[in-house]
Amino acid sequence: MLRRLDHGYELDDDKARIDLAEVHRVLSTECYWALGRPYELIERTAREAARVVGLYHGGRQVGYARVVSDGLAVTYLADVYVHADHRGRGLGLELVREAVDNGPHRDLRWSLHTKDMHGLYARLGFGPPGERAMERPPRALD
Ligand SMILES: CC(C)(COP(=O)(O)OP(=O)(O)OC[C@H]1O[C@@H](n2cnc3c(N)ncnc32)[C@H](O)[C@@H]1OP(=O)(O)O)[C@@H](O)C(=O)NCCC(=O)NCCS
Repeated sequence: MLRRLDHGYELDDDKARIDLAEVHRVLSTECYWALGRPYELIERTAREAARVVGLYHGGRQVGYARVVSDGLAVTYLADVYVHADHRGRGLGLELVREAVDNGPHRDLRWSLHTKDMHGLYARLGFGPPGERAMERPPRALD
């Protein structure tokens, strides 16, 4: 659903609207967790996502968030960014709010990884994993 924000910004979960070339450019060159990620992987993960939310301004893609979910037990927030020219105006918070609280996955258990944005996610109910949570790190390439 399209949600209009102040100052001409729009949030939209229409997958067909995502500018994959721009999302690939930003993720693969500016985002520490996705440096060098191939276009094909960006395209496939967007296509197979339970939901993607785009942030738009003046017809351009200026933010992105991707939701991975089985609709039951596993819901994961990934690839969140707001373009550098648009940061610090509350848009990242609204982008994450739209992905987490305004969609069909709101009541499920969510998880995510972040290096330094714990404060942002804490405002939307995220906290340290409980004692029941475990994870297996990715396997190092041979
Ligand atoms: C993370 C990101 C999406 C935030 O977008 P944004 O539009 O600047 O965020 P907001 O303006 O909504 O800020 C929301 C809150 O996040 C926190 N925050 C934002 N930028 C921050 C920064 N550089 N360092 C620490 N906390 C920050 C603050 O708590 C802020 O609240 P405030 O109003 O009290 O300042 C954006 O900085 C970004 O794209 N960074 C590069 C990619 C990245 O790190 N993505 C997150 C991966 S987990």
